[in-house]
Amino acid sequence: MEEEKVTQMPRIGDMAPDFKANTTYGPIQFSEYNKGSWVILFSHPADFTPVCTTEMSGFAVRHNEFKELNTKLMGLSIDSIHSHVAWVNNVKKNTGVLFDFPIVEDISMNVSKLYGMLQPNESETAAVRAVFFIDPEGKIRLMMYYPLNVGRNMDEIIRVLKALQTSDKHGVALPLDWKPGDKVIVPPPKTVEAMEEREKSSYEMVDFYLAKKDL
Ligand code: BEZ
Repeated sequence: MEEEKVTQMPRIGDMAPDFKANTTYGPIQFSEYNKGSWVILFSHPADFTPVCTTEMSGFAVRHNEFKELNTKLMGLSIDSIHSHVAWVNNVKKNTGVLFDFPIVEDISMNVSKLYGMLQPNESETAAVRAVFFIDPEGKIRLMMYYPLNVGRNMDEIIRVLKALQTSDKHGVALPLDWKPGDKVIVPPPKTVEAMEEREKSSYEMVDFYLAKKDL
């Protein structure tokens, strides 16, 4: 029988594994970088590849939006720092876009393994396209995993970041396709009294358990 491949996978709600790594902005201790802000930690399969170049450029072009959301970016692949720097230089020269956030060198694959970014049935030699949304307390709040041949969607990355922050700030949940400005879901009542109160509220109600309001 073929030996089962078990990959360590972080889960939503876990504390983000800490690590120290060499990056394009020098050595960084992740927990220090994470202090006081959200971090989006994302992996790409390889430097100097087409889909990855579009994705990294997407993060760089919208970096200010992330900063406005108190969110730092950190890229990662199992390439060397020399490769990362050469790629940053190449893209800057070709397109004028600077990858102005740290990109982790992970030749040892230690960080990729910690975060379940190596998924051997997709690739033995490259990290998949993972995105971790880590809150200022260091907790993993949302994860995305994409295969090698499909690029991510920057609007969706920013949408879910805003959704997480809105949920935290207002204690609400966000419905299908929610975007800022849309109504939000008020958590269902936990008592009969609260249920009866809800009947008198100004919420937009499908039924007592599905009530929406403007923020
Ligand atoms: C790309 O970024 O284009 C790519 C990288 C690794 C495998 C396939 C595509």
